[in-house]
Amino acid sequence: MTPALQSHAVLALCRLAPVIPVLVIEEIDHAEPLAHALVEGGLPVLEVTLRTGCAIEAISAMAGVHGARVGAGTVLSAHDAERAKHAGAEFAVSPGATPALAAACTALDLPLLPGAATASEVMALLELGYRTMKFFPAGPAGGAPMLKALHGPLPQASFCPTGGVGLQNAGDYLSLPNVACVGGSWVAPAAMMRAGDWDGIRELAHAASKLPR
Ligand code: 3PG
Repeated sequence: MTPALQSHAVLALCRLAPVIPVLVIEEIDHAEPLAHALVEGGLPVLEVTLRTGCAIEAISAMAGVHGARVGAGTVLSAHDAERAKHAGAEFAVSPGATPALAAACTALDLPLLPGAATASEVMALLELGYRTMKFFPAGPAGGAPMLKALHGPLPQASFCPTGGVGLQNAGDYLSLPNVACVGGSWVAPAAMMRAGDWDGIRELAHAASKLPR
């Protein structure tokens, strides 16, 4: 799958909801109830970060939840991309991008949302054929004003800003023409997962799903 087609597929996913939850799953038993809560709350597209021992298993479990569109996050290498694909991930997200990772996702038919934080990084991804990117780390890298500035010379790039985004500032990003959706961990706090507060997470997801854009 070419980078252009990968970006096309990722953009379609970004349009399904205003927020992609960024998930750090510590216990495999959390995976299914978490996916149900988020999907029922109105957030079907889920990014499971490969930062915990059960992440790969969690992707497989969540991919079986009706309505969930599950991808892998923190995909840093070709090996990560292979593991994610074999687990059933529908897409991959990376905080940055490397030629090796892009080549792996192209060979695996795994749509990649690659990260960029500067004009040069955006240009390098556009050169490869990617047009949908993760803007990371969104807050420290300049926030909504930075994306607004990038839109002038680089209007062909669309972004999913992630990193320091929450209910209070998501609207600043979502109102921009080059923002397709935002990503964030605020809809699935670790403490609520540990407490099994799936109703609370469903409510957080519901509030996020109603963000205007
Ligand atoms: C990530 O960890 O990939 C995201 O940056 C999540 O950032 P957040 O915790 O600030 O939402």
